[in-house]
Parts: sequence; C-alpha cells; structure tokens
Amino acid sequence: MKYIDLQKQYKRFKPDIDAAIQAVLDHGQFIMGPEVRELEDRLADYVGVSYCIGLSSGTTALQVALMALDVGPGDEVITTPFSFFATAEVIMLLGAKPIYVDIDPKTFNLNPTLIEAAITAKTKVIMPVSLYGQTADFDMINEIAARYHLSVIEDAAQILGGTYKGRPSGGLSTIGCASFFPSKPLGCYGDGGACFTNDDALAEKIRLIINHGQKARYEHTMFGINGRLDSIQAAVLLAKLNYLPEEITLRQTVADQYKRYLSDHVITPYVAPDNVSAYAQYTIQVDDRDVLKAALAEQGIPTAVHYPKGLHQQPACVSGDVACYPVVEAAAQRVLSLPFYPYMDEDDIRLVAENICCIQTDVLC
Ligand SMILES: Cc1ncc(COP(=O)(O)O)c(C=O)c1O
Repeated sequence: MKYIDLQKQYKRFKPDIDAAIQAVLDHGQFIMGPEVRELEDRLADYVGVSYCIGLSSGTTALQVALMALDVGPGDEVITTPFSFFATAEVIMLLGAKPIYVDIDPKTFNLNPTLIEAAITAKTKVIMPVSLYGQTADFDMINEIAARYHLSVIEDAAQILGGTYKGRPSGGLSTIGCASFFPSKPLGCYGDGGACFTNDDALAEKIRLIINHGQKARYEHTMFGINGRLDSIQAAVLLAKLNYLPEEITLRQTVADQYKRYLSDHVITPYVAPDNVSAYAQYTIQVDDRDVLKAALAEQGIPTAVHYPKGLHQQPACVSGDVACYPVVEAAAQRVLSLPFYPYMDEDDIRLVAENICCIQTDVLC
C-alpha cells in the first residue's frame, strides 16, 4: 500500500497531462511561458482574489510574502510552532523572530485567543498555518490584525481547495501562500507554489522580487531572488486544476469512510462546522502512537507523523528560550497520518482501519 498513490491520479488524467507537457516542449518557452499566466489567472479566479503569482515552491511563497511586507531584522512574526519547518525557517532566514503561540487542541491550528498577549511593538505579521487542510479562525485573526495594524500571511501550503465559512482558502488574508509539492491537494511534478493577494502594490512587488528585482530587462531596481514557477509545472497544474473540485469531494468521501470505521477506536480529525477541509493529511490521535506506527509498518501500511516535535524544539531554532507549548507538545506525541488520497478505494481504507482497530485492542489489553 502507498501512503499517497500519485500514479493513480496520473493514469486517470494521463492524456490531459501528457498533452499539456508536450505543448510546452513544442513551444519551448520554459520560463515565463503562457501556461504560467493562464494558471495565475485561473487560480486567482478559483481563490477569489485579484492576483495570483506563480512561484518556485511553497517555501518561496512564504519568503517572498514576508519580503514584500518588508519583514527583516528586529521584526516579530506571530505563528504556530506546529508546522513544517519552512514556516519558521523563512522568518529566521530574513533575520526576523518567530513568536510562537500554542494551538487549538481540536483543530491543531493557531489558537486565536492567545494572539493578543503575544503582540509587541515589534510585531509585523501574524502567520497562521492551515494545517492538514483546514484553516484557523480567520475572522478572529483578521479582526485582531486590523486592530493592531498588522498584516496576515496564510501559510496555505496544505489547503488549496478547502474553504472557511464558504470562502476559499488562500484568499482570506493579506497574502496567501500555496505549495504545489507533488503530494499536496493540488500538486505539480516537481516544486511549485503561489502567492495570492488583493493588494495591487504587493502583487507588483512580489513579481519584482521573484525575478531578481528586474523592472525591465537588466534593470534591477531592488534585490530579489529567482522564485519563478516554470512553464512545465504550470502546464501540469492547469491540467490537474480542472479536477480539483471533484478531488476535494472525493477526499471528503475517503475521510467519511475512515471516520465511520475508526471513530469508536481513535480520535479522528475534527473539522469545524463552517469549514471544508482539503485533507492534505488524514491525521488521527492515539495514546501509543509509536507502537501503532510500528505495528502498521509491519503489516505493510505506511504512515507519517506531522509533526514529531514543535518548531521551537528543532535544533536550528532552539535559542535558549525555554517557553513551552503544552498543546503542541502533547499533539506531537499523539498524531499519526494515515494513507490518504482521493482515489483510495474502500478495500484499502477498510484494511487500514481494521489493522488499527485490531492493534489498538491488543495494546489496550
Ligand atoms: C505548512 C507548510 N508550509 C510550507 C511548506 C513548504 O512548501 P514547499 O515544499 O512547496 O516549499 C510545506 C510543505 O510541506 C508545508 O506543509
């Protein structure tokens, strides 16, 4: 069994994907080809924002979003310690300081009731991560940000296709940042990402930053990076975007089936009533996580841990600050992500669930 079977998706859409890649090979505009702008227009529409800028990865998206907001040394960014390393990495790379607040125990997202106490004169940005495919409480976060004149960056790497109160993720804040890493809900065949915004000036600045600050050819008005999305990845994404709404529905079906089999035995994912999760991961909670993980591996069932420790505990981030985030530290011991993808068939779902129930019963005995 595979944790995510991308080949099943490829076989299904092979003619579309092959034709899209072939078109780029034929026209030869590998950088800034027409597919990139077409994808940007279609994604901006999908997310309901004025601008989408295609980028080389989700990490690049976070980095250039912070750069566009002039985040640098001396600034603080409030974020969650329960995320992939990139969230904190880009803040620290730019010389700013991540200020962590603990997470909500049900959604595992930034707990908005703890944000205000973390705001100082140095705070510039609040950066919630939409973990596992579900957003944090954006109404509350945006309200706090507006009151303190702060910007909000959504780390939307795990959520494209999910919604918050009927509004698409990615378009809920000053800048939304998506990842198109192959296993993400919308994934390409390499690295890719995007920034979403309604702000004209920010969109223009992001476009400059990702092309070496180049306003006209060989005219560099600021320092930037090479952060562009390439045409082949854009072509793959265009082909797959047609099927994203259908795949999000299939993800709900797989999640519902898991829930039906598992909810009497383990804690299944909580999705807030107003949210649709993109289920980038299907993450359960159990007491003896490492025992269950090892026992499933023995049965040939792969699983993953998102994440085994908080960002504040990563060796690169440890700064002598002994703050603790009890909800994160408890979650890091208990979470286990199961095999999950839109085309997973019910026999496989049942097999995973039966193994979990059986192992859990043995552990309990
Ligand atoms: C929450 C989060 N942020 C950022 C990233 C970085 O995205 P990428 O791998 O496209 O650089 C990831 C990727 O896994 C992620 O899960």
